Amino acid sequence: MKGLILSGGKGTRLYPLTYTRAKQLIPVANKPVLFRVIETIHDAGVDDIGVVIGSTGPEIREAVGDGSRWGVNITYIDQPNPLGLAHAVKTARDFLGDERFVMFLGDNVIQGGITQLIADFADSDWNCQIVLKEVDNPSAFGVVKLGTDGNVERLVEKPADPPSNLALVGIYMFDHHIHEAVDRIKPSARGELEITDAIQWLVENNYRVFPYVHPGWWIDTGKPIDMLEANSLVLEEFTPHLATDALIENSRIDRRVIVERGARIINSTIHGPTIIGEHTLIENSYIGPFTSIYHHVIVQNCEIERSIVLENSIIRDLDERLYGSLIGRSTTVQRKDEKPRTLTLNIGDHSNLWLI
Ligand code: G1P
Repeated sequence: MKGLILSGGKGTRLYPLTYTRAKQLIPVANKPVLFRVIETIHDAGVDDIGVVIGSTGPEIREAVGDGSRWGVNITYIDQPNPLGLAHAVKTARDFLGDERFVMFLGDNVIQGGITQLIADFADSDWNCQIVLKEVDNPSAFGVVKLGTDGNVERLVEKPADPPSNLALVGIYMFDHHIHEAVDRIKPSARGELEITDAIQWLVENNYRVFPYVHPGWWIDTGKPIDMLEANSLVLEEFTPHLATDALIENSRIDRRVIVERGARIINSTIHGPTIIGEHTLIENSYIGPFTSIYHHVIVQNCEIERSIVLENSIIRDLDERLYGSLIGRSTTVQRKDEKPRTLTLNIGDHSNLWLI
């Protein structure tokens, strides 16, 4: 069995962070979402993985490399235009051959427990397996209607009037019949070849499509609020750990905290679940809960809650607690002390600031 990860897309809803970084590489609980996807596929015993890339390809190649870090073999597949998930399958035709495969969207974060499902598909006689999740806003996703016997009756992409509340999670398993399906379908109203339509074709042609309803959580990390939610959920599953060379001085560290290598925590309180990255300094501050501070960050005289801070940033001397914030790389947020005390902003396109 092979793996196929879709890692194209511009991530416009995550601007400005995604001006300078592929959305799949933004870390959740201090690990890029794409790395979590690779680990899940590897844990299912699948080590031959194709990664479909678009305009952010060079950055993805640099971050993932040949996959040897995870013990997997990565093949990059260029999809010059984002013409849909089914189009990505077409693009990967040579890599996939006639093998069974699992396709994973590189920006989806899912609770553990899915690896066995993927491993089981390798030896099953199903032609396709889809993962479903009950959601409150089905119109935002591909939606599946099951019949009274539990079989897949109908699939429809982003319906205005959804026939059920079961969304298609971005994890799909196929055998070689999908290649005929993607050749038969036509582009949708949004001009894309939809994988939802290809699976509908399988159903109509009496191929066996197994619907698995996932009981755990699942987040499609399209927007900042999704990143923060995924961050909270992943942090809650973590096993706490203090690196042996971390320096902790005159501080209170909650039991659900991870402190990575070389971090220093001085005169501070850390409330879990929270992760403090490598060589980061936290001084005279309060951090947490549900907060991920990445590597080489400096936080002094601040309070930060339910937030993600990326590498090499400096956050200093704030009067108010930072909450629900996504702070990009090499960013400085600090109080201005000299007179006149003005607001002085030096921010990128598509940024959002909420001031009080
Ligand atoms: C895609 C699929 C949709 C699925 C979703 C899961 O949507 O087309 O069926 O429910 O991923 O994340 P898109 O992200 O292209 O809007």
